[in-house]
Amino acid sequence: MQSTGQPVSRYQDKNWWRQAVVYQIYPRSFVDSNADGIGDLKGITSRIDYLKSLNIDAVWLSPFYPSPLVDGGYDVSDYRDVDPKLGTLADFDEMLAALHKAGIRIFVDIVPNHCSYLHQWFQDAITSLPNSLERNRFIFRNGRGENGELPPTDWVSHFAPSAWTHESTFGGKHNQWFLHYFAPEQPDWNWDNPEIEEDFLKTLKFWADRGVDGFRIDVAHGLKKDLSEPFRMRNTLEHEVDRPADGNGILADRNEVFDVYRKWRKLFNQYDPPKVAVAEANVLPERVPLYASEETLGQCFDFRFIFIPFTARSYKESVAEAIELAKVNGSSCTWCLSNHDQIRHATKLGLDKSVDRKLWMLSDGTSAPLDKESGTRRALAATLFILALPGSTYLYQGEELGLHEVTDIPESMIQDPQYLKNLKVDKGRDGSRVPLPWNAQADYFGFSTGASHLPQPAWFKDYAVNVQSGKAESALSTYQRALQKRKELICEELITWHETGNAEVLHFSRPNGWNCLINFEGSDYLIPQGEILLSSAPITDGRLPAGTTVWIKR
Ligand code: GLC
Ligand code: CA
Repeated sequence: MQSTGQPVSRYQDKNWWRQAVVYQIYPRSFVDSNADGIGDLKGITSRIDYLKSLNIDAVWLSPFYPSPLVDGGYDVSDYRDVDPKLGTLADFDEMLAALHKAGIRIFVDIVPNHCSYLHQWFQDAITSLPNSLERNRFIFRNGRGENGELPPTDWVSHFAPSAWTHESTFGGKHNQWFLHYFAPEQPDWNWDNPEIEEDFLKTLKFWADRGVDGFRIDVAHGLKKDLSEPFRMRNTLEHEVDRPADGNGILADRNEVFDVYRKWRKLFNQYDPPKVAVAEANVLPERVPLYASEETLGQCFDFRFIFIPFTARSYKESVAEAIELAKVNGSSCTWCLSNHDQIRHATKLGLDKSVDRKLWMLSDGTSAPLDKESGTRRALAATLFILALPGSTYLYQGEELGLHEVTDIPESMIQDPQYLKNLKVDKGRDGSRVPLPWNAQADYFGFSTGASHLPQPAWFKDYAVNVQSGKAESALSTYQRALQKRKELICEELITWHETGNAEVLHFSRPNGWNCLINFEGSDYLIPQGEILLSSAPITDGRLPAGTTVWIKR
């Protein structure tokens, strides 16, 4: 399954995904076409030229399905339609055709662990009797205590103290509780019920037949739960073994989930080229290959660059480990530095290493200084580093502008359940979801002509697309150039490390003479002989400054 070198008919190549660059669009915050302050599908279609100018291979759209937006659309009330706030199925088809015409493929987000409480099947369930067919699509149980007033177990959710909510919260009258791994408005499906399996196959086929090329699978480690009774209590477990290596946790990463994905794979392989999938699985590293196997989803995000410090040692170790894991089953690596769930990487890299980012965000970014310039500079260096590695790269909208996290969204405007439902112990993820600045001079920086759903700070103007376009040293131009060059340079998925004699500098090469060097900190480093292709910041006298990456051909 090694890629052969391309590019003749990249479109038919069934391995196109192995080294693709995928750009994540968060639709509500990309472009708004009708002044309601919410980005939409027509907005995306209106920016095909911009997407094309980035030289990406594909876009991944976060959910655009009908949703009450309790969790930014990851609470789906109808899997086979478009949210009227974002457009129509016809708009979707138009967007897809325009993307394909521009040579850009499309991934959609599938959210199989849970739906929205407004999904018709949950509405049916809540008004039905215990043990009914309707309730059996979800996980309803009686409570503990004399009158069932206590949740059935001590299981916790990501967004709430308990993973159980009493049905009366949503109007149910039978004194039962239902399970939710995330917010109470996101009831978990009962994946032991074959009807759910069938319905998701129908959803996948619906989008695949419409022409989407790939699927990003949300919380791919969820779905299957250990519901054997008496229930296992969490207090008997260490938190760390929530998802143990043996695949026998309570709520996540259970071995049975691969039976589901094997069925999905059969469906994907009925298409030519086969549909592609990438798992969002937060699991132990040794479990990653199970999700990324040829028989299951094929690829699994590697989130380690989101969390590791900006040091030569951790970067090198992380690359080596990820490559080893990908080799287990012939998958390819999937690198990323940012996404809609994380603090923007320019901001992380502009903070002193000693800063607790969670507390810093809770202080509205006031508890420690942020060096924005160094952050953006290091972010570009990190990006050029991962772009030169074998495998695919996932970029998040706005990172190509060197954009920073918005840290001071007023409490009254926060939308994220990670803050609102979670005892307010962290500020949540809205700061990376603020609508993009397109035009420094326009109202709402060209995102919309009406007030944007999350407020854009005044400093966004410095990062606007129109300010950066055509400026050789801007973040945007650097991304554009790098992605263009990468297309020309892409080759076999192999790397060789080279000694640098400097603990702060890494150097690797690809089989065709594409070399990448990064200097993390300290003094300038003399770049070895070769043709300088591009760099993340200006280079003088052939020396690589701290916080800079260079690509050379030799
Ligand atoms: C995934 C999504 C995140 C969402 C969660 C629940 O982790 O990336 O945004 O809140 O799933 O669906
Ligand atoms: Ca709109």
